[in-house]
Order: sequence, then structure tokens, then C-alpha cells
Amino acid sequence: MIGRVCLRGCIAGVATGLVGACGVLHAAAESVRRPAVVAVCTPCHGVDGRGVNVEIPNLAGQPGIYLREQLLAFRSGTRRHPQMKGLARSLNDREINALVGYFSILPPP
Ligand code: HEC
Repeated sequence: MIGRVCLRGCIAGVATGLVGACGVLHAAAESVRRPAVVAVCTPCHGVDGRGVNVEIPNLAGQPGIYLREQLLAFRSGTRRHPQMKGLARSLNDREINALVGYFSILPPP
């Protein structure tokens, strides 16, 4: 989806002479592979890792080590939050790795 939208942008970019900048964006979008489990997070944290309201933190571009620690802390209950606790409990280590990898390499807002 990101790829397709950007591709259209790139075609427009050729016409307007902005193709250089778009090429970079396109390459970035291509390198971000979205694991299916991300769909659990996007209603709140957004598909681009930007919280949908001020009470929901942005995940995009946060250091992977930090994101992982937070998810493990929600899962174990050391960091308390009713919504995140329930969600984190349903995640296995492989899913946490995939989510951390995805959100940490998105461009920060
Ligand atoms: C129902 C909404 C909701 C969903 C769905 C949700 N989150 Fe959250 N998340 C929150 C809220 C609200 C906070 C802020 C918690 C707090 O204030 O301590 C948060 C905090 C976090 C944090 C800590 C961020 C920080 O800056 O400290 C991480 C990491 C996180 N969520 C990851 C995820 C992941 C990964 C998913 C998908 C598996 C997910 N969340 C799904 C609402 C949600």
C-alpha cells in the first residue's frame, strides 16, 4: 500500500522534477516490511507509528531497545497500563521482535 501510493507520487515526481527526493522516500517505504501483528496496534498508534491522539505515544523512530523494554514491562506488569497490559500479554517474543523492528525504523514524526 505504502509502496503503491509512493509509486504514484514518484510518477508525479518525474513530471515535476522532484523525483530525487521521492526516490529516497520510496526506498525507505520499501525497506519497511510491516508484520501482520502490527494491525493490532494501528487503531491507537497509527500505521505510521504516530499516536492517534495526545494520550497515545508515538512509536515511530523510538529506539528499539526502549520499545522492547516497554513491551516486556507491560507484559510482566512492571509498567502498568490497562490497555497495553492486555495487549502485551497476548504477544510472544517473536511478535515483540517484529513489532520493535517495524516501529523503530519508521521515520520519527
Ligand atoms: C487501545 C489503544 C492501544 C492499542 C491497540 C495499543 N496501544 Fe500501545 N499504548 C497505548 C497507550 C494509551 C499508551 C500509553 C501508556 C501510558 O500512558 O503508560 C501506550 C504505550 C505504548 C508503548 C510505550 C511507549 C512509550 O513511549 O513509552 C509501547 C512501546 C506500545 N504502546 C506499543 C504497542 C504495540 C506494539 C501495540 C500493538 C501490539 C500497541 N501498543 C497497541 C494504547 C494502545
